[in-house]
Amino acid sequence: MKIGIGNDHAAVDMKFEIKEYLETKGYEVVNFGTDKKESCNYPEFGEAVAKAVAEGEADLGILICGTGVGISLAANKIKGIRAVVCSEPVTARLSKEHNNTNILAFGARIVGMEMAKSIVDAWLDAKFQGGRHQTRIDMITAIEENQ
Ligand code: RB5
Repeated sequence: MKIGIGNDHAAVDMKFEIKEYLETKGYEVVNFGTDKKESCNYPEFGEAVAKAVAEGEADLGILICGTGVGISLAANKIKGIRAVVCSEPVTARLSKEHNNTNILAFGARIVGMEMAKSIVDAWLDAKFQGGRHQTRIDMITAIEENQ
């Protein structure tokens, strides 16, 4: 499975550690984020990862900024993207099981490294449950299509 990862200046160290963590677990990781700590603008990295996922260049995406908020807001502007911000693993798991999220975001200034790994594991291990949840996702897609 190929994962696109993106980050701004607030999350360079966490990005590298999560990337390595994923690679040791056998995931292919494509880095769309900045590798520099100079101040930069999170929307461009959210957009890059979201487009990679929406266009099938990556199967899933992981985004990290200071809070996870700005970068996920940017990602959610791309058609077909369902990005969730999580600070704990239960929401991460349920966001996949019920909402079929295709991008996970979290904040390097909010969660520690071990929590970030638990969030990532919970999200990647979870499976979408379909059924009534698909009906609701179809309704979300319709909102996007009909705007
Ligand atoms: C950058 O200072 C910070 O605003 C950004 O990383 C993020 O937290 C925005 O949502």
